[in-house]
Amino acid sequence: MAAYALEWLNLLVRWLHVITGIAWIGASFYFVWLDNHLEAPSKASDIERDVSGELWAVHGGGFYHAEKFRARPPAIPDRLHWFKWEAYWTWLSGFALLIIVYYVGADIHLIDRSVADISRSAAIAIGLSCIAIGWVVYDVLCKSLLARNNNALSLVLFALLCGTAWGLTQVFGGRGAYIHFGAMLGTIMVANVAMVIMPSQRAMVRAAEQGKVPDPRYGIAGKQRSVHNTYFTLPVLFVMMSSHYAFTFGHRYNWALLIALSLAGALIRVWFVDRHKGKQSALTLIAAAALILLVFWTGIPTTQIATKTTASDYTRVQAIIAQRCAVCHAASPVQPGIAAAPKGVIFESEAQIRSQAILIAQQSAITRVMPPGNLTQMTEDERALIARWAASAQAR
Ligand code: HEC
Repeated sequence: MAAYALEWLNLLVRWLHVITGIAWIGASFYFVWLDNHLEAPSKASDIERDVSGELWAVHGGGFYHAEKFRARPPAIPDRLHWFKWEAYWTWLSGFALLIIVYYVGADIHLIDRSVADISRSAAIAIGLSCIAIGWVVYDVLCKSLLARNNNALSLVLFALLCGTAWGLTQVFGGRGAYIHFGAMLGTIMVANVAMVIMPSQRAMVRAAEQGKVPDPRYGIAGKQRSVHNTYFTLPVLFVMMSSHYAFTFGHRYNWALLIALSLAGALIRVWFVDRHKGKQSALTLIAAAALILLVFWTGIPTTQIATKTTASDYTRVQAIIAQRCAVCHAASPVQPGIAAAPKGVIFESEAQIRSQAILIAQQSAITRVMPPGNLTQMTEDERALIARWAASAQAR
């Protein structure tokens, strides 16, 4: 019952997370697009009113006319819309999910004893510190002298992210390492909203209310963080989906794949932002495609030599699966914390095992992400036998 209730909590919180995430990133993409498509005001009266850019659009049921006032509008309207709760709720629901999936289920999804034999509390402490330290270091760097040179700052941040990706894969299983990389970046994005972008907007509104010109420092800091958030978005979204793709987080060089795909995501965003401004460069897209192709190529499974397996091999395979897999992958799993067969995958009858031979080999012998964290201590010989058996089953 408790595990079943936890599954429900997982569903509801994930649902909320996806909804708020769409609302946040949707609005953020829209404003980046809007800003980059603004045109200089056409009427003299608008220039007099201090309009710095305007845009016409048509969308579901009407025409919209947006005007941007860079310095200050003639008056602050009574109802001024702010955009922050989408970001805050995305973080709150994401953090709740991190606890529900990765901390409550630390033995299954976070810890891999073949990577590092750490206790649950140590793993959780490392995970949380990584997220917190990530923000502190990033924030200090953005406020330091280094930030005067955008390229230097980007390069240092990139090097630190590479180090973090590598470090995380040295303490956690692939899935847990990936999610902490994404959670750290996501936390930086939300903290940028809460700690820099919101305060700078509040200062802007306050100045406008007092009829003053706002201190340009606020605008510059807010802009720097908005730009970073834009480029962090696609990498974070990749990480949030990555747990479906064992060939990424289960790869031997999973940290390098994570960096390559994150970089590809950032480049794709660069291309879109440039495109809004009418100056997109094919080179950016080619670089992103090259990175994705490179990752594809490094993950091509090496062909298994289909040596003959005998009938008695199946008996052994069945025993291995019963011992190493069926504690979770059964109609009524006995593994604590597993309420129902994960993903509906069940290996109990001979028909179920034989019909899923390829899937079994893929997960346990090729990407090796099953059993998770090698919880049931599958041996190398067992993995090799499964690979052989599946290859000959396929050849037949
Ligand atoms: C401790 C419990 C546990 C054990 C033991 C276990 N699995 Fe899994 N398995 C899971 C979970 C949890 C998932 C779902 C992962 C996810 O959410 O993507 C899963 C998913 C799978 C999938 C579906 C993958 C997909 O993305 O569709 C396959 C296939 C699989 N496991 C095979 C195996 C094999 C083969 C073994 C034994 C060598 C095994 N599992 C042992 C927990 C377990």
